[in-house]
Amino acid sequence: MAPSQPELHDHLADKHFNAIAKVIESRVGIKLPQTKRTMVEGRLRKRVRALGLTGLRAYGAHLFERDGLDDELVHLIDCVTTNKTDFFREPSHFEFLRDVAVPQLTLRHGGRAPNLKVWSAASSTGAEAYTAAMVLQDLVATGKVGRFAILGTDISTEVLKEARSAIYPRAFVAPVPSPMQQRYLMRSKDPREDVVRVAPELRRQVNFERLNLMDESYPFDRDVDVIFCRNVLIYFDRPTQQAVLSRLAAHLRPGGYLMLGHSESMAGAGVDRLRSVAPTVYQAGAAVSGRSAA
Ligand SMILES: C[S@@+](CC[C@H](N)C(=O)[O-])C[C@H]1O[C@@H](n2cnc3c(N)ncnc32)[C@H](O)[C@@H]1O
Repeated sequence: MAPSQPELHDHLADKHFNAIAKVIESRVGIKLPQTKRTMVEGRLRKRVRALGLTGLRAYGAHLFERDGLDDELVHLIDCVTTNKTDFFREPSHFEFLRDVAVPQLTLRHGGRAPNLKVWSAASSTGAEAYTAAMVLQDLVATGKVGRFAILGTDISTEVLKEARSAIYPRAFVAPVPSPMQQRYLMRSKDPREDVVRVAPELRRQVNFERLNLMDESYPFDRDVDVIFCRNVLIYFDRPTQQAVLSRLAAHLRPGGYLMLGHSESMAGAGVDRLRSVAPTVYQAGAAVSGRSAA
């Protein structure tokens, strides 16, 4: 077949799909059973085009027979991760942040408005981090929070680019209450562009970095007040969930909170430091011995 001719039956060879599934499970923690094959192949077609290959068979060969895997891994990860997110997704967590977490953390700060560190640990395109920023900025305005800093992390470089740009289609920000839209979202100057951008006042307080939750340790502060790790654990097997949860727990200050997705739970995860305080919300006790909490 001439290199420029597209393959007639454009599918990955079985051995290449299995090899991709193995790499993704070991590096990212995500299982790719045969039932995901059509989805994976669909998403990989854009990489086939970007690399100018004839099709998915050639893509598999490029990865595993021509040493292409190392350079392609970051794109492969972008293609297989599911990045669905929303502003104010699972809103009870943001009500908990405002109505319970901040008042409790204030008590721990001797009644003074606390300076808060928040981590969105599978941030996708940033909606979760910017939602927390809107809620906290409102509390700054009323003197209930001093300052705050939010870190968003994700394994996918594509979503991090979008998160840093902080530009979203207008339809996507519909869940943001109108007063907050007015305060924190800017319309494009070009009326033909149906997008908004998060205001610089919030962007200044939110940073995004790449992090693989499968890494043995996380190079971040260990005195975080609130960690959101929502809708990512479901993709991991039980031992990986346990390992991720105990690493995250070690980054919370005593009294800090961990929020999981509504279909996720710590049940059986054996992380002694965390106790359930509301549905899918956990609070850290004393720091694990031998590790500094501040
Ligand atoms: C479904 S989104 C959830 C986004 C947000 N937390 C929410 O609940 O709306 C899951 C995110 O987890 C990221 N992810 C998957 N595996 C990961 C890993 N091993 N390390 C870090 N992020 C990962 C994906 O790239 C994706 O953006």
